[in-house]
Amino acid sequence: MIKLALIGYGQMGRMIESMAADHGFEVVSRIDPQLGTSICREDIKGAEIAIEFTQPGSAYANICRCMELGVKVVSGTTGWQEQLEAVKELAGQLNGSVVYGSNFSIGMNLFYEIVRQAAQIMKDYADYDVYGYELHHRYKKDSPSGTARNLAAILLEELPAKNKVIFESLQRVKAEDELQFASVRGGEIPGEHRIGFDSVYDSIELRHTARNRKGLAAGALLAASWLMQREGVFEFGEVIRSGEEV
Ligand SMILES: NC(=O)c1ccc[n+]([C@@H]2O[C@H](COP(=O)([O-])OP(=O)(O)OC[C@H]3O[C@@H](n4cnc5c(N)ncnc54)[C@H](OP(=O)(O)O)[C@@H]3O)[C@@H](O)[C@H]2O)c1
Repeated sequence: MIKLALIGYGQMGRMIESMAADHGFEVVSRIDPQLGTSICREDIKGAEIAIEFTQPGSAYANICRCMELGVKVVSGTTGWQEQLEAVKELAGQLNGSVVYGSNFSIGMNLFYEIVRQAAQIMKDYADYDVYGYELHHRYKKDSPSGTARNLAAILLEELPAKNKVIFESLQRVKAEDELQFASVRGGEIPGEHRIGFDSVYDSIELRHTARNRKGLAAGALLAASWLMQREGVFEFGEVIRSGEEV
């Protein structure tokens, strides 16, 4: 069994704990302010790899701290990726190993490819205007979701008519070259993302709905077993494209 540390013992940390043994991991450490534990040699308890799901303001420091202790780390926390270059630089200096991703669901990573191909088809049909929106539970601390940012980036790459994404609400008419991607927060919704292509004649909508957090936890554990054999900084898509079984 591979010795695993959970950094962040919240909804995702506990789901990963419940599935770890079935994926060949032994949870030896739980790091969370609510447990009075921190990322130090004593509390890491000899873990070889850590899975980090905390909050946007903590992830970067947590990832760096793991690399300083020589612990590989898989981070699913969203809202910190503007510090990615700094993580890559430190990993280069310390031979660090990191997998990061704003959505560890296999289904969502397939959905990225479906949306890309749909956009490649729709770009030649000017009658259709594109939009996006996402829905998540009331506890989520960041908007838009990291996944929405990825979907919007794919649409801007593939649709020459769209030059700009708007994530905030609009108090004016949307410009033709703008894509609006809205966010809704409420209830216990695990996560839903929709992309629509709409014309005066009809409407086409693509939807990914996460049923629960199990699929996300399974992806994080896959990323951890994959990273045990590797060094460097990788986006979760590379794990999927490597074709390893979950
Ligand atoms: N990539 C993906 O597939 C994916 C999937 C689901 C969620 N996420 C993201 O992952 C993050 C966590 O999600 P969640 O649903 O598990 O949230 P959550 O239930 O709020 O759990 C986060 C836990 O981390 C703790 N924490 C905060 N700062 C910490 C630190 N510096 N060190 C250690 N623990 C710390 C929190 O404690 P306090 O409550 O005391 O602050 C809380 O117990 C969010 O950014 C979410 O958007 C990503």
